[in-house]
Amino acid sequence: MPGAIFAEGLVKTFGDVRALDGVDLDVPEGTVLGLLGPNGAGKTTAVRVLTTLLKPDSGTARVAGIDVLKKPHEVRRSIGLSGQFAAVDEYLTGRENLRMVGQLYQMSARDAKARASRLLDRFNLADAADRIAKTYSGGMRRRLDLAAALVVSPPVMFMDEPTTGLDPRNRQQLWEVIEELVAGGTTLLLTTQYLEEADRLAHDIAVVDHGKVIARGTSDQLKARTGGERVEVVVHQAGHIAPADEVLRGFGKGESKVEEHTRKITVPVSGGAKLLAEVIRELDARGIEIDDIGLRRPTLDDVFISLTGHVAEAEEAEGQGPGSGKAPDGRPGHKRHDRTEAAS
Ligand SMILES: Nc1ncnc2c1ncn2[C@@H]1O[C@H](COP(=O)(O)OP(=O)(O)O)[C@@H](O)[C@H]1O
Ligand SMILES: [Mg+2]
Repeated sequence: MPGAIFAEGLVKTFGDVRALDGVDLDVPEGTVLGLLGPNGAGKTTAVRVLTTLLKPDSGTARVAGIDVLKKPHEVRRSIGLSGQFAAVDEYLTGRENLRMVGQLYQMSARDAKARASRLLDRFNLADAADRIAKTYSGGMRRRLDLAAALVVSPPVMFMDEPTTGLDPRNRQQLWEVIEELVAGGTTLLLTTQYLEEADRLAHDIAVVDHGKVIARGTSDQLKARTGGERVEVVVHQAGHIAPADEVLRGFGKGESKVEEHTRKITVPVSGGAKLLAEVIRELDARGIEIDDIGLRRPTLDDVFISLTGHVAEAEEAEGQGPGSGKAPDGRPGHKRHDRTEAAS
């Protein structure tokens, strides 16, 4: 049985650009699909087609079992979309905006009030709740948009890069709200450039690049595809880097990588925890003092590099909404995706 979100052969071109180049999706009810890809991959175009805002050149799609092309109005009644359907009124306060959304969706005044308060808390807007939205900063405004999208829990929800431009605390809180929503039975399609976000929230991940789904699976399955676990060692003294590197190369099954400034050595291995114990014994036998050692499974960053030959870039700027910050050709640069940066 097709899932709550189903698409087959979606194609959408803009002039020469094939924004969607034959996309198939199938999201089982009550699960989260992470549509993961760099800028210009086609994520927003897919969301716009699935939410009836854009007609594809070809292909079919059903949301909550309803044909997106044949019955767009019915589809719209079953879905929520962050950012775009949420029309914040500048001259209402944050609280009034959220209560109004609740009442538009036929919540009782009491429920709408309670839901508004809860969301204002969750998105750190409680202090500003009774100020008109016009006075909000870009970041606050963005949080209010997200809160407005979450007032009601539709059966199917789309979120297009929901945490782009949020600071770590707000990102964390949004993740928690999303998890609650999904626990309540909502099916979610979430687009993201943040590998850690897909890892945390998505049951299933579709990696998109150039309008195509280039890989699909759970986070674990995708990681397994890149093969290879690694041992990472951080030695206590710079003088121990060379001898530790020698030890690791003895155990490794590929090139070791040395980062002088962090005193970290990484080497691909096979053999898991047993091998790790042997490495520790050998380092100890040679009197090499270590600050940290671990077995590291591949991250989604590694998955992306192995699939596409380039890293998924996560651009970071407060107030940068979805769709902005795109290179003219829609392609990201080849800058290294930095996880600490991605979390800030
Ligand atoms: N309205 C449009 N007109 C022309 N080109 C577009 C339009 N919307 C998207 N594109 C192009 O389609 C490609 C996919 O864009 P988009 O779906 O926004 O990617 P993403 O959301 O993954 O960053 C990009 O090359 C983008 O420039
Ligand atoms: Mg986009």
